[in-house]
Amino acid sequence: MIILSPSILGADFGKLGEQIRQVDLAGAQYIHLDVMDGAFVPSISFGMPVIASLRGYTEKFFDVHMMVEEPVRYVEDMKKSGADMITVHVEACRHLDYTLCRIRSLGLKAGVAMNPATPAAAVSEVLPIADTVLVMSVNPGFGGQEFLPYTLDKVRALRRICTRDGLDTDIEVDGGVTLENVTDFLEAGANVIVAGSAVYRGDAAANTRSFLKIFEEFEKR
Ligand code: DX5
Ligand code: ZN
Repeated sequence: MIILSPSILGADFGKLGEQIRQVDLAGAQYIHLDVMDGAFVPSISFGMPVIASLRGYTEKFFDVHMMVEEPVRYVEDMKKSGADMITVHVEACRHLDYTLCRIRSLGLKAGVAMNPATPAAAVSEVLPIADTVLVMSVNPGFGGQEFLPYTLDKVRALRRICTRDGLDTDIEVDGGVTLENVTDFLEAGANVIVAGSAVYRGDAAANTRSFLKIFEEFEKR
């Protein structure tokens, strides 16, 4: 199944609870929560207290994208806040294997994320212990950027590796995904789609339904 993970970074932070409910009711399966520490990426977004509050608004799967140096420091607190999956950057973990195992040992799904310039080979060793590999299709830190077309090749390469090795790792893409270009990502092999501005600019419920309709059509191919 192809999954939509709306990023609340594109939402109105003054009414986050309501904005999450809109995409939940419209059928989005995940909620993507972008945590930024002002060190791994230039910007600072939100952390555990906000996520814990939002947990009261939806039962949907909380897909927490940690753009944070050494995220292993926060995994227990993230679990307490209601995370279902914690995705950490390969570039931000000194001990990536340990970090992924630690996340899984808490009973959570573990994801590994990679920046646009990071090659597929940087995560190939850990694919068997990751539930998801997240390919950044923009430089992380801000919503509303245009996607970098060369990142599609990396999605293809990762899909090839997973097929070859019989792995059912999800391949998630994040950054600059729109209703117009999402099919390119699906064709390349992505099956979890993050979208911030493309969901929250305008009518979030209608945009969510439009993404899901495209997924449904694609799956019928
Ligand atoms: C960027 C974040 C993304 C971002 C996506 O650093 O990881 O999740 O919110 O936003 P759009 O879809 O607007 O590029
Ligand atoms: Zn993200």
